[in-house]
Amino acid sequence: MKNIAVFASGNGSNFQAIVDARTRGTFKARLKLLVCDNPDAYVLKRAVKAKIKAFIVDRRDFLSKKDFEEQIIKKLKSEKIDLIVLAGFMRIVSAHFVKQYRNKILNIHPSLLPAFKGAHAIGDAFISGAKVTGVTVHFVDEMMDHGPIILQEIVKIKETDTKESLEARIHAVEHAVYPKAIKLFLDNRLRIRKAKVILRRG
Ligand code: GAR
Repeated sequence: MKNIAVFASGNGSNFQAIVDARTRGTFKARLKLLVCDNPDAYVLKRAVKAKIKAFIVDRRDFLSKKDFEEQIIKKLKSEKIDLIVLAGFMRIVSAHFVKQYRNKILNIHPSLLPAFKGAHAIGDAFISGAKVTGVTVHFVDEMMDHGPIILQEIVKIKETDTKESLEARIHAVEHAVYPKAIKLFLDNRLRIRKAKVILRRG
């Protein structure tokens, strides 16, 4: 069975959705580790409740980003992690990090990439006047919010929406989509060809 590490920095509602999906049997894998860069994050409480080991790494404790990431990589190796799931991890992983886990790092982003990259995707879409936005799950490459796209779901932006109501619908879609993408990965259904993900028949 494969070992998963989830990376999160804040609330961790996606972490929770992944934990719940595994409990329901949506996918079969060990959720071995939560990597968290914020000692005050609510996701740490969720990990305690779910009995998942948390590895807290505070960037301020390291002189360089390289040292910070080396510490994480060491832990991932010792826990024999096969898949890294970024779930609201608000840091850009370096090219060196990506190289260690090439095509084994997934990310979820609250927009239809390549639109609205960055840390404020929902608010940016809301004020843009766009009629649709959505959710993307993708493999992580060297660029921010970039890499072969696995799944995308559309979320309509209604005239009556507030940023909060839009955010709530996007999060609900995220919580459904991420476990699906994880299952596709674990079932070995994903092939990358020329920057595109080809879905093998199950
Ligand atoms: C999620 O909406 C995720 O897509 C987003 O952070 C949120 C974390 O929520 N990630 C990014 O914006 C990455 N660029 P959560 O902590 O409740 O899962």
